[in-house]
Formats: sequence, C-alpha cells, structure tokens
Amino acid sequence: MDKLKITGGRPLEGEVQVSGAKNAALPIMCAALLSAKPLALTNVPRLRDISTMARLLAQMGVAVERSEQGAVLHAKAITDPTATYELVKTMRASVLVLGPLLARCGEAKVSLPGGCAIGARPVDQHVKGLQAMGATISIEHGYMQASARRLRGARIVMDLVTVTGTENLMMAAALAEGETLLENAAREPEVLDLARCLGAMGAKIEGAGSDVIRIQGVRALGGAEHRVMPDRIETGTYLAAAAAAGGKIRLTGAAPKTLDATLDKLREAGSKITVTESSIEIETARRPAAVSVRTAPYPGFATDMQAQFMALACVADGTALITETIFENRFMHAIELQRLGADIRLEGNTAVVRGVERLQGAGVMATDLRASAGLVIAALVAEGDTVVDRIYHLDRGYEGLEKKLGLLGARVARIA
Ligand code: EPZ
Repeated sequence: MDKLKITGGRPLEGEVQVSGAKNAALPIMCAALLSAKPLALTNVPRLRDISTMARLLAQMGVAVERSEQGAVLHAKAITDPTATYELVKTMRASVLVLGPLLARCGEAKVSLPGGCAIGARPVDQHVKGLQAMGATISIEHGYMQASARRLRGARIVMDLVTVTGTENLMMAAALAEGETLLENAAREPEVLDLARCLGAMGAKIEGAGSDVIRIQGVRALGGAEHRVMPDRIETGTYLAAAAAAGGKIRLTGAAPKTLDATLDKLREAGSKITVTESSIEIETARRPAAVSVRTAPYPGFATDMQAQFMALACVADGTALITETIFENRFMHAIELQRLGADIRLEGNTAVVRGVERLQGAGVMATDLRASAGLVIAALVAEGDTVVDRIYHLDRGYEGLEKKLGLLGARVARIA
C-alpha cells in the first residue's frame, strides 16, 4: 500500500490534533545516550523515522520501550557505539548519535550519510566542532571514526547555521570538561526543546533559542521526563492545505508561537487566522492571493514549508516567487506539480509560480518528505483523482495523514 489516492475539490472542515515534532523527538531520543538513567518521553509521534531511530539506538544497547504516545529509553550501558551505513543511509538524522556517543563512551563509529534527494548535505560543521572539543576524527571506509579521552569545552563559531550540527555539539558539550560557547547556533524551536530536555537531565545550558549557546559541562547526567514539543511543520502543512482548499479547520495541541513566519504568509494570502496558546484556526473564504516566500533559518520562513507553499501558489491569484536558500536541490516537486497543470518556471534557486484557476488530477511521484506534502496539497484542490506514488516518504514525517485528512472531510485512500 504505497500510493495515496486523493479526490480533490472539497473545502476542508473540522478539527485535528497535532502530533509531537519528529525533528525534536529525534535529537531528544539521542540525548538518552548521554545518561545511564532512563529518559521517559511523551508526545512521541508514531512515524517511520522514530522507529528507525529506536532501532539504531537498540543496536547500541539502549533499551527502548514504546507505548501509544510515549517512549522510555534506557542507555544503562552502551555495548556498541556504531551507527551502520544501512540505517544512516535511510535517515540522515542518525548522525545525531555522534556527539552523544563520543561524550559518553569516548569513541564512536558513524557512517557518513552521503548525499540525499534534496542536496549534498555535508556534516563538516559537526566534525569541525567536535575536533575543536578535542576529538580525533578520521574517515575510514565511509565511516567517521571518532575518539576522545574526555571532550573539552571550546568556543566554536559555526560557518553556517545548522540545526542538527548545533544539536550534536550541544549534546557533546553537556558532558565535556568546562565551558563550550556555540556561536552562530541554530535558533530553531527544536534546538530549544532539546536544551529543555537536557536541562531536565541535569545539563547546564543557557541561551538555547538564540544564536549563542553557553554550555557548562557536567560529569554525568541523570534521568528525566520530557514532553516533546508539537510539530510546527505538520501544523503548517495542514494550514497550507486549508488555505489552498478553502474552508475552516482548527488544529489543537499546536504551538502557534513557533509558526510566526508561516502564519504571516497565510494572512498575506487572505486567510483569517485565530490563535490561542495551543490552537490555531484558519478560515479561507476565497481563492488565495499569491504570496512570495524565501526560505531562511528560524525565525525565517522554513525550508520544510517551501513545497507546501509552492502548491498553494499554484492555485493562487497572481504570481509568486518561491526562493530556496537552504538546500540546493529542493524543487523536485515543481516538475510533479506541472503534471497537475501548474505553471512553474525554475530560474536557479527561484521558482516563478503563476497561479492557475484549477489543477487537474494525475499520477505523481513523491521524491522526499516535504515534496510529498506539497503534492498532497495540490491533489486536494485538483479536479478529479490524483494518485501520489511512493508515499513511504510521507510516513516518515506525517502521523496518520490519511486519517487526519479524512477527519477534515478530504477524500483520501491508501491503495496498492
Ligand atoms: C534539519 O536538517 C532538519 N532535520 C531538516 O528537516 C530541515 O530541512 C533542516 O534542518 C533545515 O531546517 C532534522 O532536524 C532531523 P542543516 P539538518 O544542517 O540539520 C548545510 C524534514 O523534512 N550544512 O540545518 O540536516 C546543509 O547542507 C527535514 O523534516 C553544511 O554545509 O539541516 C544545508 O545546506 C529535511 N555542513 C544547510 O547547512 C554541515 O556540517 C542547513 O542544513 C551541516 C549543514
């Protein structure tokens, strides 16, 4: 069952609950490697990437117990500090074990992730930071072979803003000797959520959420309980779908404060947005106006929302410029959107999208997680049936997608 059949043309109406954030849960699961005591998590989404991470940690000797919306991870002893190519190649976030393993065990062997569909995605900043903390890292047979007696705190100025790079170094620094200063750090809310979890485990971290993070290393970390933050990208995806399809939906269990850039753009498109502390309602009465976006690190417009906004632009009134500045190859959905009748011209890292009155259903192919989300949005507004192939990409990051879309009145079915 790896295709999704969507019959478009209906406005969305209803209410759905947002899941825990994949991109917060993944680093937080790795934080369990830093302590011999259990880490109990709630609001953990049921996603393929989460199962992959659980499998990776289990291979290292971590006891992983999953419940409906939770997980208890217990790294009493780490038996094998290795992340094999077989798992790393299926999920790049596996590289997040490097910092914690090195800090806890003094050694780690982690496969180089290699390129992926959206770009080259090197890990040089992770490596450079750990080396500054005293680690020796060599590349042998495609693996990063890292060792250190005890990591030392250091001042690290990152060349560019990297989310998992910041997370990896923050985790390593939590157990290093002395103080680490991470400059030009990523300000993404997921970094802050990880810092909160590490804080509950006993780490001394200041400034997470800003671009300078100060970490005072401690000898050991303890156990903790932590609730994973809501998924801001899942939230934004349903909002963009509702803006494109029209109607009125409400998302509960959300964190509106993490979505400023997205909400601003949706208002610009003409939707009415009402927020409370933990819910967002969006009402769209007419065809959206074209809005241009330019991706940037947080608090700028998220690259993980780019494909969904391109889909919105396809049916908007006017011309929108969609500029991607984070990844060099994140426009593969453009070609598929054209199959649905979209008018898109690619000029370097900008897509010029001229909105059309209507799209037409067709067979399309998902290429990565967020590209698939863009295709689903386009399918919801297209006339007739769209079949999205290779939806395993969606299962990596959207919990119960067809169920949630069904709750909003969309006609969606998983087919073989
Ligand atoms: C995280 O990836 C997210 N993944 C991505 O979400 C997201 O698209 C991305 O951040 C940007 O917001 C997780 O959090 C698990 P980066 P990450 O390091 O950390 C370059 C999704 O769909 N770079 O912030 O891997 C890199 O090539 C996924 O949920 C280096 O040059 O992204 C890119 O151009 C996809 N050297 C830029 O930095 C490095 O050492 C930002 O990447 C590291 C990164």
